Amino acid sequence: MRDQRLVGFLLRALGHEMAAAQHYLMQANLVELWGQPGLAAGLRADAQDELRHAETLMRRLLAYGVAPGGAQLFPVRLGRSVAELLAANRAVELAAVRLYEEALEYCRRMRNTTDGGVFADLLDEELKHLDRIGKHAGAAERNQRDD
Ligand SMILES: [Fe+2]
Ligand SMILES: [Fe+2]
Repeated sequence: MRDQRLVGFLLRALGHEMAAAQHYLMQANLVELWGQPGLAAGLRADAQDELRHAETLMRRLLAYGVAPGGAQLFPVRLGRSVAELLAANRAVELAAVRLYEEALEYCRRMRNTTDGGVFADLLDEELKHLDRIGKHAGAAERNQRDD
């Protein structure tokens, strides 16, 4: 029998990853308009990471014979400065971390090591995203002070 709660986690996660990819692509195009190609390239790479995560989740959903129904994507959060973008991105990554911690805990309780392993890997990658945002924020602050 299919574990509906698990499928729920996979669908929520897929919705999050698709929205995060859209979010980072929009930001990449915004900062390009601000004349910051280096930052744009980094945000595009982030979007690619999130799309890769989405594909991992799609493979798990296919394994359970589930096609996503088309989740509502969370709205893209832009801003007027790099600091504002980074604050928005931190919120996106924190939401992913919370979701994957919850999903991982559930898999542990159910002794589902396959999906638990997938969620543990995704959690690890989102923690790395969060860490990178922290470093960028530190650098942006230092730049502002030097100006
Ligand atoms: Fe992700
Ligand atoms: Fe992420």
